[in-house]
Amino acid sequence: MKRLNIDLADRSYEILIGQGLLEKVGEWVLALVKPSRLVIITHPSINRLYGGKLSKGISQANIPTHVIEVPEGEKSKSLEQAEKIYDKLIEWKCDRKTVLLALGGGVIGDLTGFIAATYMRGVPFIQVPTTLLAQVDSSVGGKTAVNHPLGKNMIGVFYQPRLVVVDLETLKSLPEKEYKSGISEVVKYGVIEDARLFEYLENQFQNILSHDPKALEHIIATSCAIKARVVEKDERESHYRMVLNFGHTIGHAIESLTGYSTYTHGEAVAIGMVYAAKLSEVMDRCGEDVTRRITGLIKNFGLPTQLPSLEAGDIIQSMHLDKKTTHQKIRFILVKDIGSIEIMDQVEESYIQEALKN
Ligand code: NAD
Ligand code: GLY
Repeated sequence: MKRLNIDLADRSYEILIGQGLLEKVGEWVLALVKPSRLVIITHPSINRLYGGKLSKGISQANIPTHVIEVPEGEKSKSLEQAEKIYDKLIEWKCDRKTVLLALGGGVIGDLTGFIAATYMRGVPFIQVPTTLLAQVDSSVGGKTAVNHPLGKNMIGVFYQPRLVVVDLETLKSLPEKEYKSGISEVVKYGVIEDARLFEYLENQFQNILSHDPKALEHIIATSCAIKARVVEKDERESHYRMVLNFGHTIGHAIESLTGYSTYTHGEAVAIGMVYAAKLSEVMDRCGEDVTRRITGLIKNFGLPTQLPSLEAGDIIQSMHLDKKTTHQKIRFILVKDIGSIEIMDQVEESYIQEALKN
């Protein structure tokens, strides 16, 4: 098992990565906090697959436990769903020593984190991510949120978990499309911070696609370590944390304009990374070889690299509505070289128009 630490003073925590960890979660929770109760928040399908293993360890730890099942899908990240969960917590007389445990992907993690941050002004929570995307990205760093009908992740708070447990065995049941969605975020880490990770992905893509356990552990641990270092520098995204948004500016616009149903988040980010590289090239920040390597790697993973048929004007308008846009300025993360990026606070629309044409 690999142990990483994220150093955030009194909000520091560990990220544990390995095989067959679910049964040990009860023991770790007990060692960390003396919980009065444990409430597992998950989807029915994930509960069927992994609830048994998790509960086995927890029952040995003798913690009174409840399970709340919420429907799958982005719609569950809502204030309405949160209210249903608050109702249950109050009904069960859950106090401030109650620990919430998120067992699932980013939807479960973001929703559970939001409830943990707000129930009784904050109770401890544990992330047990089961999608690759959640294991390398959303379970680490403390961004929690629910959606508003007018915008995704609009209602939320920074609130760190007390522990993240990544059991690699859970990825065996993950649909291929969701697996690749997570790979896209791993490619992002290589581009923004780590040329060696990027080269590893170029050399090992076949092993990664066939779920080789050693390769998986390496890319997940490296990604979590990069994310931890970025969050340590700028927990509340005053500036530097924005580097994690490489590929997301255009990616979010694609997701929004296609109704969040055509592409997974990672697929939209994959296209976004290709066009962010093209934009960097148009703005003379990087050479053609950088765009070629990023596009080639994304293609090797079977992720999309081409924009769907959308009007450039609509994409730009959608970027203006993004919550990362301030004072009407579209901010971009540009690539200078593999492993080196630049935050550009105001990008001329003519450059974006040109990059989107290519
Ligand atoms: P998701 O949580 O919807 O999971 C995708 C699908 O996979 C679901 O149907 C789920 O039931 C299924 N699933 C999960 N684990 C499985 C397993 N082991 N086996 C079989 N099926 C499994 O999607 P996601 O991609 O994990 O997360 C997307 C969400 O994460 C979005 O809401 C996004 O806004 C959020 N997000 C948050 C952050 C953050 O920093 N907080 C970062 C990135 C994304
Ligand atoms: N997923 C981007 C962030 O955590 O900042």
